[in-house]
Amino acid sequence: SVSWKLEDHPKLPKGKTIAVVVLDGWGEYKPDQYNCIHVAQTPTMDSLKQGAPEKWRLIRAHGNAVGLPTEDDMGNSEVGHNALGAGRIFAQGAKLVDLALASGKIYDGEGFKYISESFENGTLHLIGLLSDGGVHSRLDQLQLLLKGAGERGAKRIRVHILTDGRDVLDGSSVGFVETLENDLAQLRAKGVDARIASGGGRMYVTMDRYENDWNVVKRGWDAQVLGEAPHKFTSAVEAVKKLRENANDQYLPPFVIVDENNKAVGPIVDGDAVVTINFRADRMVMLAKALEYQDFDKFDRVRFPKIRYAGMLQYDGELKLPSRYLVSPPEIDRTSGEYLVHNGVRTFACSETVKFGHVTFFWNGNRSGCFKPEMEEYVEIPSDVGITFNVQPKMKALEIGEKARDAILSGKFDQVRVNIPNSDMVGHTGDIEATVVACKAADDSVKMILDAIEKVGGIYVVTADHGNAEDMVKRNKSGEPLKDKDGNLQILTSHTCQPVPIAIGGPGLTTGVRFRNDVPSGGLANVAATVMNLHGYVAPSDYEPTLIEVVGN
Ligand code: 3PG
Ligand code: CO
Repeated sequence: SVSWKLEDHPKLPKGKTIAVVVLDGWGEYKPDQYNCIHVAQTPTMDSLKQGAPEKWRLIRAHGNAVGLPTEDDMGNSEVGHNALGAGRIFAQGAKLVDLALASGKIYDGEGFKYISESFENGTLHLIGLLSDGGVHSRLDQLQLLLKGAGERGAKRIRVHILTDGRDVLDGSSVGFVETLENDLAQLRAKGVDARIASGGGRMYVTMDRYENDWNVVKRGWDAQVLGEAPHKFTSAVEAVKKLRENANDQYLPPFVIVDENNKAVGPIVDGDAVVTINFRADRMVMLAKALEYQDFDKFDRVRFPKIRYAGMLQYDGELKLPSRYLVSPPEIDRTSGEYLVHNGVRTFACSETVKFGHVTFFWNGNRSGCFKPEMEEYVEIPSDVGITFNVQPKMKALEIGEKARDAILSGKFDQVRVNIPNSDMVGHTGDIEATVVACKAADDSVKMILDAIEKVGGIYVVTADHGNAEDMVKRNKSGEPLKDKDGNLQILTSHTCQPVPIAIGGPGLTTGVRFRNDVPSGGLANVAATVMNLHGYVAPSDYEPTLIEVVGN
């Protein structure tokens, strides 16, 4: 069993109120017109930067530093908040699935055996995000799984695609569908009846998160399970090309593929198997509930087929959801949040719905709920529903700032932790002007929190989970913006591989505390030990090293 007692820090006191502020999608990049953070008025974050190198520095937030397969993998909120909260680097879903596919172990596991019981008489349905973004899923993993299932007896396969344009360039969906169609044709040549059955844009169909809007999941259910959608096509490539005339990849309306008699080619029925191919949890967990729970009242499922369902991973270790899965998730244990509550640190965490699970669920190692409810308060501010955030770029930054301020002033908490979503959520829309407004709103929110910390004599730690708004265009190797064949700038809706800032300060910060200069490659995982120190504790010995030292006295 775990010993939760943390050692006292030899030089740092306990009992300070600490604000831990995570700006979502706020990286550091050269100052040009596509760097929305540079263009925006951000006096608070600018003033923190003046504290470099002792009170401000950059840390790594992508690739191996957050447990992703390669250094070309951009950071994301899941792996970023996992690293921030857990203080160690865990091989993440993307990598675990790669390994299981490469070794073939995925086919020996309980999950695959379970779904393969449907191969003889039923259809295998694969549902998930179709791109090579590597944030929620990856095309090459889907390709390997299709091939592997075909070789292992799947006779009929239906793929339900969700187009991306958020972790990859808008417009790239057409190419991904063409690639998939080519793979399916190869399977058909080998005698497997394999087709695309339905589709839709990820933000409008299926991939909602944190129960922001169940209609999104319902739209997907209707197409995937019931075989019903407002748009019917006989070819998925045609569907995507046509629907793109009125919407971006992220927001394509749902469609089903029909045969020559106008009948859907792949509704989900009794006896079928279903795999949700995303490895990342947040945007699959709602569908997992709809597919798995007998009792379910979030929308009318109309039909609840008796299926064999497995997730690519188990998405929620606490809920054990789904109960069957192809690859075991990273075991992120002994997170800093759990240690700190066991040592008496009273914790407040807050964001708006679309990022709420980031500072709770992901922060706590993909675990729902509190550790000790009597010592923790998690506050969710409802996000605006049914809009794209470029029309509301201030989002709930003000409300998050107010809640954090009130929590700090109340004296009831030792740690007040927030995620401020604006630069990420608006950055993902690709709307540069709106993203500038978003960055300013985030900066205003940070100011409110720092002012409250000033009043109570506390400490602040301000950082970010990965880059996004600091670079809004695709660039060539020398950093020049790229244009498409029509001469239009290629807008980058995705995250980046840039480092992120971290700043410490506040009247409660002990004199002589500064960033060490002997952890130059420090990353997000080094933040947990740093925060533990500021609470007056030494981090467990297997945590990544702290970023700070105390000089003098
Ligand atoms: C999303 O899910 O919105 C994007 O794929 C990744 O964004 P996040 O990692 O910042 O949540
Ligand atoms: Co993002």
